[in-house]
Amino acid sequence: MAVQKLFHISIFLLVCTAKAINPEAEALLRWKSTLIGANPLPSWSIANSTCSWSGVTCDAAGHVTKLHLSGFGLHGTLHAFYSAAFQNLTVLSLNNSNLVGVVPANISLFLSLTVLDLSYNNLVGAIPYELSHLPMIVKLKLGNNHLTNPEYASFSPMSSLKLLSLANNNLSGAFPQFITNCTGMIGLDLSANAFSGPLPDSLPQMVPRLGYLNLSFNGFSGSIPRPFSRFQKLEALDLGNNNLTGGIPEELGMMSALILLCLYSNPLGGSIPASLGQLHSLEDLAISDADLVSTLPPELGNLTSLTGMFLEGIIYLEACHHLLPGCKQ
Ligand SMILES: *[C@@H]1O[C@H](CO)[C@@H](O)[C@H](O)[C@H]1NC(C)=O
Ligand SMILES: *[C@@H]1O[C@H](CO)[C@@H](O)[C@H](O)[C@H]1NC(C)=O
Ligand SMILES: *[C@@H]1O[C@H](CO)[C@@H](O)[C@H](O)[C@H]1NC(C)=O
Ligand SMILES: *[C@@H]1O[C@H](CO)[C@@H](O)[C@H](O)[C@H]1NC(C)=O
Ligand SMILES: *[C@@H]1O[C@H](CO)[C@@H](O)[C@H](O)[C@H]1NC(C)=O
Ligand SMILES: *[C@@H]1O[C@H](CO)[C@@H](O)[C@H](O)[C@H]1NC(C)=O
Ligand SMILES: *[C@@H]1O[C@H](CO)[C@@H](O)[C@H](O)[C@H]1NC(C)=O
Ligand SMILES: *[C@@H]1O[C@H](CO)[C@@H](O)[C@H](O)[C@H]1NC(C)=O
Ligand SMILES: *[C@@H]1O[C@H](CO)[C@@H](O)[C@H](O)[C@H]1NC(C)=O
Repeated sequence: MAVQKLFHISIFLLVCTAKAINPEAEALLRWKSTLIGANPLPSWSIANSTCSWSGVTCDAAGHVTKLHLSGFGLHGTLHAFYSAAFQNLTVLSLNNSNLVGVVPANISLFLSLTVLDLSYNNLVGAIPYELSHLPMIVKLKLGNNHLTNPEYASFSPMSSLKLLSLANNNLSGAFPQFITNCTGMIGLDLSANAFSGPLPDSLPQMVPRLGYLNLSFNGFSGSIPRPFSRFQKLEALDLGNNNLTGGIPEELGMMSALILLCLYSNPLGGSIPASLGQLHSLEDLAISDADLVSTLPPELGNLTSLTGMFLEGIIYLEACHHLLPGCKQ
């Protein structure tokens, strides 16, 4: 009799515990069980309430809204990550982990996602174009992986996107045209890939709010588009280490918000236009190894914010320190 009672109690407890595991916790534990290594994420246990697990943030209703799992050294894949149980997930950050395998297309079914950061992993395969269907995505960071070209033609315009980093991957071909459809973008980093061909003239018109543009360490060729002068909010322009020719356009002096201008390591040729002296916010100017033949225009003496200037390789460099109080020569 006592034994039977105990049995009933155990059943009752079992059912209770089972009920206490919400589907989100179950989904997270299922994914955790696919990770490699000795007990990653020890706090992720049914003994603790899901909302207290490391890296997990919940809303008032107890639904998981944010997963900040960067830097836990998690080793495994994302194959088992997707679950329909996450209805209110807004942030998924797994940067700086040890993830391998592909980016599953079903990550794009997290419809409330605003931040997806998978940078600094070892992910391979094509970037799923389905990620462009995320209706609320604001930050998409896939840099520093081994990702290859997506099916660009299937991209949707990402009107909510503000920041895109695809840096340091294995992407190639022409400047991705879908970017001209991301009209609200503020930061774009395509550096350290194998993109080639011309820079799009239409970029400032299509993506006028860009504040950060890094296209360095690619194989872009042709000249720096003169319409780039219409970037009125651009603070950092890094075009270093490409195959750009045709000189430094005088019009770049009209990019009045510019704080950093890197044009180093390009076969640009020509001289330093005096118009650069109008860039009153400029702090860093890197134009070394750009086949420039020039005296330093006296107008650059107006660049009172300048703290760093990298001019090595310019022929006929003169009296730099007289003109530029901040010049480190
Ligand atoms: C709950 O998580 C903490 C770590 O955050 C851990 O120290 C503790 O042992 C966990 N409790 C249980 C019952 O697993
Ligand atoms: C990646 O995560 C680390 C924490 O581990 C953070 O400090 C860093 O800023 C993140 N880097 C990027 C590129 O988001
Ligand atoms: C999500 O995609 C991965 C990789 O394609 C797949 O292995 C997994 O079964 C998918 N998950 C669901 C729930 O469909
Ligand atoms: C998601 O959150 C919103 C409010 O933030 C709430 O109205 C909605 O019911 C939640 N959805 C689910 C499936 O929990
Ligand atoms: C990167 O791309 C090149 C050629 O496009 C290919 O040969 C190489 O295997 C790729 N590497 C990875 C890690 O995908
Ligand atoms: C931009 O979006 C429009 C509307 O969806 C589409 O017709 C066009 O093909 C897109 N352009 C590019 C380059 O993706
Ligand atoms: C641009 O990207 C390169 C390579 O990824 C990086 O080394 C450089 O610091 C970046 N430039 C700026 C201005 O952030
Ligand atoms: C740079 O462009 C020239 C043609 O303009 C081409 O011959 C050369 O191969 C390119 N170099 C690189 C490194 O892409
Ligand atoms: C810039 O410098 C030049 C030559 O040093 C000077 O004549 C000119 O007035 C300055 N312009 C401005 C806007 O400060």
